[in-house]
Formats: sequence, C-alpha cells, structure tokens
Amino acid sequence: MERTILITGGAGFIGSHVVRLFVNKYPGYRIVNLDKLTYAGNLENLKDVELKPNYTFVKADITDTGSLHRLFGEYEFSGVIHLAAESHVDRSITNPMEFIHTNVLGTANLLNAALESWKDRFSGKVFYHISTDEVFGSLENGGYFTEQTAYDPRSPYSASKAGSDHLVRAYFNTYGLPVLISNCSNNYGPNQFPEKLIPLIINNILNRKSLPVYGKGENIRDWLYVEDHAAAMDVIFHRGKKGETYTIGGSNEWKNIDLIRFLCRLMDKKLDRSPGDSEKLIRFVKDRAGHDLRYAIDAGKLKKELGWEPSLTFEQGLNRTVDWYLENREWLQHVLTGDYEKYYEKQYVSR
Ligand code: NAD
Ligand code: TYD
Repeated sequence: MERTILITGGAGFIGSHVVRLFVNKYPGYRIVNLDKLTYAGNLENLKDVELKPNYTFVKADITDTGSLHRLFGEYEFSGVIHLAAESHVDRSITNPMEFIHTNVLGTANLLNAALESWKDRFSGKVFYHISTDEVFGSLENGGYFTEQTAYDPRSPYSASKAGSDHLVRAYFNTYGLPVLISNCSNNYGPNQFPEKLIPLIINNILNRKSLPVYGKGENIRDWLYVEDHAAAMDVIFHRGKKGETYTIGGSNEWKNIDLIRFLCRLMDKKLDRSPGDSEKLIRFVKDRAGHDLRYAIDAGKLKKELGWEPSLTFEQGLNRTVDWYLENREWLQHVLTGDYEKYYEKQYVSR
C-alpha cells in the first residue's frame, strides 16, 4: 500500500461519502474508518465498499485515549481526515456536554495520538480537520464568511467545533503538527440522517407528516451537495497548504421556507400527487433557541488556489437526493426507530 489513511466518523453522512471516494479512487491507499457508531453512524452507508481489500472498519471512540494509542501503534498512518463529531445543533441545545466531550476532547485526543506517533518525522504527514461554517456565527448584515472571518460561534455545537478548530491550529503553531482545516456550509445528499432539514422534510412528505418550519422560515443556509464537499476534501487533503484554512460552500443560498416549498413541488411531481398537496403539511413551530439567521460562504480561495468548483446545480442535487430517498426506503425505515423517534417527539412541540 502506498499510504495508510485514518478517516474518523466514516460511518456518518459526510464521512461515508469521503470513505467511498477514497477507497474507489485510490486503490493504493489503505483506508481505515474509525467510528463509534452513535445513532448517526450507520454501516449500511458503506455496504458497497465494505469488502474492498483496501478498506478496514474499526469500532472505537475518539475520546478513548487507549484505543487511539493502540490504533496508531498498529498502523503507520500518514494522514488523518477527522470528521467524527456530534453534529446536530438541536441536540447540542438539549445535551451540550456530549458535544463538548466528543468534539473538543475527542479532537484533542486525536491530535495527541497523531503528534505522539509522528513527532520524529512530520514530513509526508497531514492531519486534516473537517469543520463547519457555523463557527463564524450568523451573517445578520449581508456579506460572506471567508478564511479571515473572526470566530463567533453561538450554539453549543458551533462552539464545540470552534474549540476543536482552535486546538488544531494550536498544535500547528506550538508543535508544528502539519494540519489543514476546512469550514464548509450545509451539506445535503444521500445517507443524511433524517433529523437534518432536507432529509427530514423528504421523509415527512413521503409519509404525509407535518413539515416543521422553525420560526418564520426566513433563516438562510448555503447548500452544497455532499459529493462536492468530498471532492473539495480530496483536493485540500492532497494539495492544501499546511497550516491553512479553506472555506467551502455552494454559492447557493436558500430561505428555509422557499426550500421546503421547492421540495414539496418536486415531490408532488415524483409521487404523482396533486400540485399543492404537500404544501398543506407545512407547520410553523417554535423557533430554535439562538437560531442563526444566515450562513453564506465565499469559496474563492479554494476555487482560485486549488481549482475546485461544485459539479451540480441545486436542482440536480435535490433531484438526485429525493430519488435516492425514494429508492432507499428500507434505509430510511432502519434509521427511523428507537432513539430517533423518542428524540423526535421531544423536539417538535408545536406553537
Ligand atoms: P454525522 O452526525 O452524520 O456523522 C458523525 C459520525 O461521527 C457518525 O458516524 C458517528 O457515529 C461518529 N462519531 C460521533 N462521535 C464519535 C466518537 N466519540 N468517536 C468516534 N466516532 C464518533 O455528521 P456529518 O453531517 O457527516 O458531519 C461530519 C463532520 O462534518 C462533522 O465534523 C461536522 O461538524 C462536519 N460538517 C458537517 C456539515 C453538515 O452539513 N452536515 C457541514 C460542515 C461540516
Ligand atoms: P439543520 O439541517 O439542522 O442544519 P443547521 O442548523 O446546522 O444549519 O437546519 C437547517 C435549517 O433548517 C436551520 O435554519 C433550522 C431549520 N430547520 C427547520 O426549520 N425545521 C426543522 O425541522 C429542522 C431540523 C431545521
């Protein structure tokens, strides 16, 4: 094998697309996927690659120092792509400590394991930390997030991700650990757990359940198809400049209510329902506490320096996504049990 790469959180939504891309595109790389398999981790996401000779799955927790020590002893990693995290803002509001534990302590543990293993020779190594645009706060007065934007996280989720970003940068400045960071806008696509907006709305339209819109639905997100995010990670991992940050986004801003209405129309057509049928399911519910108004990314640096561009329009991406959920109802069925249902009932209190 040319090199061995550790991907954390590879059984989750974005991680599974990154694992698939790397396993298929680089048969000469051994890809080790470390995941704790929380409610968000699902090995069904990786059925198509699980038997590939260059893929290995390890069930472990990034907050467990002993496991990481053993793993770095067993494999000679030359790269780490770190996605493992608690990732849902609403859950961070009800249970902040879990986010601080996983996202801050877990990242510190992983940094320590890489530093310990690589300290005699940093050449050829890279620790790539995957983060979010939410660390920059909320764009209330126009403009875009760039690599220069000051951090201003406002939810326990974004604050814990900001903490992890700071640690990664500190290990670069203090110890010279070769790091990369990227901060991406909202992702969507196949395999996303149906607690996040787009898969939740698709699932609810499918099952004729109400469509919960927080507040007035005027909050704006910049949406990027998950495979385009994975493609950006590929170029950053291989050609990004150590110690630098890259912001990634789709230049694709949508108000939540407009996006939900768009999905209603798209799915009415695909499901052969009368026009306007699904829109009747829309319900305005209690707003999220501290709900950030707008996120939007300027991805100019990544485009100019590394030549990355999103490959799909939003319409193409949403079509693919809806088709995937319609064709994979069994996948949806499997995740729509247990923890998710209990959480769902607690979360959605109508106004
Ligand atoms: P996800 O919740 O779908 O997946 C997270 C994965 O991490 C799961 O497989 C889970 O089992 C695993 N995990 C959680 N705690 C762990 C632990 N202690 N040890 C090992 N594994 C653990 O999340 P996602 O949406 O795929 O996001 C992946 C990463 O990308 C996160 O770091 C997130 O902050 C970042 N990100 C997400 C988005 C987005 O829109 N979803 C946008 C930008 C950045
Ligand atoms: P989400 O997918 O949770 O991503 P994030 O909060 O990390 O951006 O939510 C996207 C937007 O959709 C956000 O403004 C909150 C809103 N939202 C709803 O209006 N209803 C919902 O049921 C959910 C889950 C989100």
